[in-house]
Amino acid sequence: MQEKFNDIKNRLKEELSSVASVRLLSDIKVKYVGKSGEVTSLLRGMKDIAPEMRSSFGKMVNDLKEEVSALIAVKEAELKEKELLEKYEKERVDITLPGKSEKAGNIHPLNIVKNQILDAFCGMGFEIFEGPEIDTDYYCFQALNIPKDHPARDMQDTFYFTDNILLRPHTSPGQVRTMESKQPPIKILSPGRVYRADDDASHSPMFHQIEGLVVDKGVSLCDLKGLLDEFVRIMFDSDTKTRFRPSFFPFTEPSVEVDVTCCKCHGKGCSLCKGTGWIEILGAGIVNKNVLEMSGIDSNVYSGLAFGLGIERITMIKYGISDIRTLFENNVKFLKQFNRR
Ligand code: PHE
Repeated sequence: MQEKFNDIKNRLKEELSSVASVRLLSDIKVKYVGKSGEVTSLLRGMKDIAPEMRSSFGKMVNDLKEEVSALIAVKEAELKEKELLEKYEKERVDITLPGKSEKAGNIHPLNIVKNQILDAFCGMGFEIFEGPEIDTDYYCFQALNIPKDHPARDMQDTFYFTDNILLRPHTSPGQVRTMESKQPPIKILSPGRVYRADDDASHSPMFHQIEGLVVDKGVSLCDLKGLLDEFVRIMFDSDTKTRFRPSFFPFTEPSVEVDVTCCKCHGKGCSLCKGTGWIEILGAGIVNKNVLEMSGIDSNVYSGLAFGLGIERITMIKYGISDIRTLFENNVKFLKQFNRR
């Protein structure tokens, strides 16, 4: 028996001396001390041993098992250490190499300016209402006092899905939808994309507007002037002046176009303002009584002011951008210039 034990130990030692990895070692472990391993199987042979010998046989097998397990454990620790060192060697990092920095994006200039505009008006108590980009003829035109075949539609000739459904040519439908759903006092901004059949250096078929609407008792042109003066003071240099020029929109009466003194030459006249010293920034006016009435607001009690501005236009003026298309080309070099945080 002792011979058999010695044989097992010798074979194990030999196998251990040449095993090269923890994975292969685990096969050896199974072979000797696994469930049906050689040493474990010896215990199964107990039944063939004379009863009086069984306890000393059991003890011998257990001692052998302990010895064998200890030999394997020592080898295992040795191999683990070796594999760890190899891994460290292989995965060594050179901490002196320069790091890889992630390229962070930045806010698009149109969003920078849009946020500034929204902030300026929200600071004056305006709420934000966003209307749909696809809207009906009624909301885009008729409810704004532009009946079918009215010549003012030409200015905003736009993209139709059907005779009645179109991409909105301005954010003014936001006025109507707000007045239909809410009684005064109303003080809202309606930002969003708008679409027109226009395409050149200063017009894009898709651009962004922000509509403003205030309806309350006694709202007048003075309120409009005060409001827009304050807005211009926040958005441009504090010495920028505004001027109202008479204009026409079917949904406002009277209507005005608002100019600011040129931010490049401060009113002296330059190429940006085409020598006039002034730059137009938005259209505005006192809400036409027909528009109030059509949306269910009593025009004998309430009056309103409205304005609509193009975000691209304000952005181009603020940053001296001469071609609107640069705002949509997503040239990273162009966009990075606005990353001045
Ligand atoms: N909707 C007009 C446009 O797109 C702008 C405007 C809005 C004018 C509100 C007056 C009042 O040109």
